[in-house]
Amino acid sequence: MLRDMFAYARSLAAHKRTHPADDVMTVLATDPDLTAAELEMFFFLLTVAGNDTVRSAAPGGLLELARAPEAYGLLRDGKADPATAVDELLRRHPPVLTFRRTAVRDAVLAGRRVRAGDKVVVFHASANHDERVFSDPHRLDLARSPNPHVSFGDGPHVCLGAHFARLQLRVLYEETCRALPVLEPAGPPRRLLSNFINGVKELPVATAPG
Ligand code: HEM
Repeated sequence: MLRDMFAYARSLAAHKRTHPADDVMTVLATDPDLTAAELEMFFFLLTVAGNDTVRSAAPGGLLELARAPEAYGLLRDGKADPATAVDELLRRHPPVLTFRRTAVRDAVLAGRRVRAGDKVVVFHASANHDERVFSDPHRLDLARSPNPHVSFGDGPHVCLGAHFARLQLRVLYEETCRALPVLEPAGPPRRLLSNFINGVKELPVATAPG
């Protein structure tokens, strides 16, 4: 399976070298500093990082909307900007729960001493509801702007696919609004058991007033 994926990465890279285009794979395939193994792993990273995340963001956002009929109505009736809505839904339902980093040198972070080698974990849902940053943090406000949530991380390693993810989610919510005038919960969601991905395995919804 992994072998097939690596083989596909190699053949796609070969294709991009002869047919360069304005895309990530062309950049990777033509980078002289990247070894074959690094290119394969980068491709693997893209497929993994862009998969579970969007797959969890999508039902998570729909669940938020189903639980907030007023907000859904605003989005459906064109009274809320889908672009700000996408970020607010990501703030309320961060698909990645935590990220851990290892300190490479001693540092002080928010008044706490961190020694080289210490592990530091960011809890995205917690940061996204920090009342020092977000007013009324537990309210779904589809027009919230600015919205400095950390669902895509932050700093030099901030999510590489954030814009692509936002695009996919915006199209999903726009099409949902077009197809479903009503979106209501029809039972409790079944959640993924994971301490990393905030997944939803099943999301029963009613599409007619109950
Ligand atoms: C809603 C969807 C997504 C969420 C919530 C998400 C979240 C994240 C987070 C939290 C990180 C770590 C950032 C940090 O270390 O501070 C990350 C990194 C990354 N993401 Fe995403 N991601 C999403 C979609 C995607 C997509 C669609 C792609 C690519 C197709 C992608 C590719 C990557 C890559 C390559 C990295 C590593 C960046 C680096 O280490 O420099 N992600 N993402």
